Amino acid sequence: MKPDLSVTIAGLELRNPVMTASGTFGYGEEFAEYVDLEAIGAFVTKGLSLKPRAGNPTPRIVETPGGMLNAIGLQNVGIDAFTEKKVPFLRTVATPAIANFFGNTIDEYAEMARRLDAIPEVAGLEVNISCPNVKQGGIVFGTDPRCAFEVVTACREATIKPLIVKLSPNVTDIVSMARACADAGADALSLINTLTGMAIDLDRRRPVLANITGGLSGPAVKPVALRMVWQVAQAVALPIIGIGGIMNARDALEFILVGATAVQVGTASFINPGAAQAIVAGMETWLAENGVGDVKSLIGALEI
Ligand SMILES: Cc1cc2nc3c(=O)[nH]c(=O)nc-3n(C[C@H](O)[C@H](O)[C@H](O)COP(=O)(O)O)c2cc1C
Repeated sequence: MKPDLSVTIAGLELRNPVMTASGTFGYGEEFAEYVDLEAIGAFVTKGLSLKPRAGNPTPRIVETPGGMLNAIGLQNVGIDAFTEKKVPFLRTVATPAIANFFGNTIDEYAEMARRLDAIPEVAGLEVNISCPNVKQGGIVFGTDPRCAFEVVTACREATIKPLIVKLSPNVTDIVSMARACADAGADALSLINTLTGMAIDLDRRRPVLANITGGLSGPAVKPVALRMVWQVAQAVALPIIGIGGIMNARDALEFILVGATAVQVGTASFINPGAAQAIVAGMETWLAENGVGDVKSLIGALEI
């Protein structure tokens, strides 16, 4: 018998626990020729804002050992163009699309939540309080539990859709951030976003990225992400979406063991645009080979 891969997170019923991570999968459409979108659990859009954004100057991506650094700076089409040009595609896919978004102020966050709440094709909202690559907004809300509480409260009042809060690893106490978001009414938490880093061009004696610093993602961040998901799962009763360096099915299952209900695949899609779908297939194989009939039985099943 085929193992049961279905999970429910924040009220969203997913055929399997594998989603694609924001910023690494466009608005879904761009990947449709490489991935059977209906084979994955859900996909998350590039982070959206009220106004379109051009992002940071280039170079804004560099490979590093075990990962990559990016300082895209939240380039996106803005909510109006999203609604007009990207939403019609979402209607054609029977897979939940989650809209990732951010604002520069609490009012902007709430306005975005309100605008996205009105779009029937958007199945859920993922609020990014964790982007390290913009001067204003983002990270301020993601590093102070009081600010996180306020911004999540404002978003919660603005939407009845599933509200996922995406946490930054660039904090000393991830658990206090998670608790603040839970207290403010989040339905689920996703973690981690990128870790702030730097790459240097020795010969030119300059930073590689025009932005100087960027966000580190890929296999290098996986141990940090696993630790944080594990810590949050011990402390907070919300479902968790584990993110960080997931390259294959084994990585994904490790996140589920430490307490994640679902996972997101990011950098791996740049190496293989079909990575998320391959991870679903690999999970199914691992479960079948190991006599596990239901992936839900593995959530938090780590033995210590
Ligand atoms: C190029 C790039 C752009 C990203 N843009 C966003 C974004 O707009 N919003 C967001 O919440 N996270 C963004 N992220 C973070 C990813 O969604 C993910 O949290 C992070 O890359 C860790 O997962 P990974 O190691 O599997 O890539 C971006 C990551 C990359 C590499």
